[in-house]
Amino acid sequence: MINQSALQSFDRFETPFFYYDMDVLRSTVDKFASTLGKFGITAHYAVKANSNDRILKTISGAGLQAECATGNEITLAIANGFDAGGIFFDGVAKTDKEIVTALKAGVEIFNCESIQELEVIDALAGGMGVKAAIAIRVNPDVDAHTHKYITTGTEEDKFGISSWAFDQLFATLSRCRNLDFRGIHMHAGSQITDMGVYAQLASRVLEFEKVFEEHGFKVSLINLGGGLGVDYGDPLGNWMPDIEGLAGAIAKNLPLKPGQSVHIEPGRAIVAQCGHIISRVVYVKSGLKKKFAILDCGMHTLIRPALYQAKHLVENLSCREPLEKYDVVGCVCESSDTFAKDFEGGAPHRGDFFAIHSAGAYGQVMNMRYLQRDLAPAVYSDDIK
Ligand code: LLP
Repeated sequence: MINQSALQSFDRFETPFFYYDMDVLRSTVDKFASTLGKFGITAHYAVKANSNDRILKTISGAGLQAECATGNEITLAIANGFDAGGIFFDGVAKTDKEIVTALKAGVEIFNCESIQELEVIDALAGGMGVKAAIAIRVNPDVDAHTHKYITTGTEEDKFGISSWAFDQLFATLSRCRNLDFRGIHMHAGSQITDMGVYAQLASRVLEFEKVFEEHGFKVSLINLGGGLGVDYGDPLGNWMPDIEGLAGAIAKNLPLKPGQSVHIEPGRAIVAQCGHIISRVVYVKSGLKKKFAILDCGMHTLIRPALYQAKHLVENLSCREPLEKYDVVGCVCESSDTFAKDFEGGAPHRGDFFAIHSAGAYGQVMNMRYLQRDLAPAVYSDDIK
């Protein structure tokens, strides 16, 4: 969280920047490691959520494995201490070049999403004289009850292989000699706060496992994907994600057979709450009925509100009272570039520091240089103590 001494040091930096509270990150990662250890679940951190070197090193240092969505993420994860042999390589569009990168690195598993992808991996592995360990990403047709842009596990999504294609899948798996089938992968979506979704995924796994085993494919690895949500409404009071709830839902609904391992791929839940955007008010503008605090950050710094109608808690760090009602908007020339409408907080002044909370996940990684603005840098709490 942002304490007084951190706030005083912010004057030294040009805004906007991402402020990472490394104590929050360390506590969150430790909680994941200890809770999941108790339940015998292995976590593979989804590098896409935040791929800053220092964040990655903190997470790999706590013993978590990695989930990567591109060849570049694989290279970065290994450079930052993740074990290549614990990497899950996901993605609906793995290119030949990325597959070769992954095979050379010796990743643990390719999570495969189409019949054609299986054939390509088989051919490339054969050409290199190696076997590729694979899991099949099955489309579970489970609704994650989240925003439609981050729902990935329903029948109409582009992800995974649906059960109607299983005959062709089993024929392909039997034919592909350079693939070593290990298990089943699912990912229903992101920002999931209803633990019933994981209970549903677990029961779908049991149904699919039966079908795979009836066709002679032994399921030794079960991967329920990422998706655990965080509290965007109360990130300062309730910053620890419900990792016990997730682990409990899995343990209760997924009886394991001897030799089976269970994995998850959390991204957001590990890094969201340690990150804050620190920005200054450039101008305060009063309309006839409305007042605006116009910040020096915008949708190019945090695209989530504009893209998913996401709500991030906003705070005027410089002025707590008197309270006023106004809109907090970004600096980009688009109306969707709004962080909070009818926000009630301390009266805004030019130069005030504002924080936009819960920006550690899918914040800095999704930055862009629209309008040729500079990318916002990272500032770490460890450096300003
Ligand atoms: N595994 C797979 C296969 C995924 O596609 C994802 C996220 C994850 C794991 C990690 O999910 P998480 O635990 O972070 O929910 N940019 C969006 C989120 C996109 C998520 C994409 N896939 C946002 O800002 O909400």
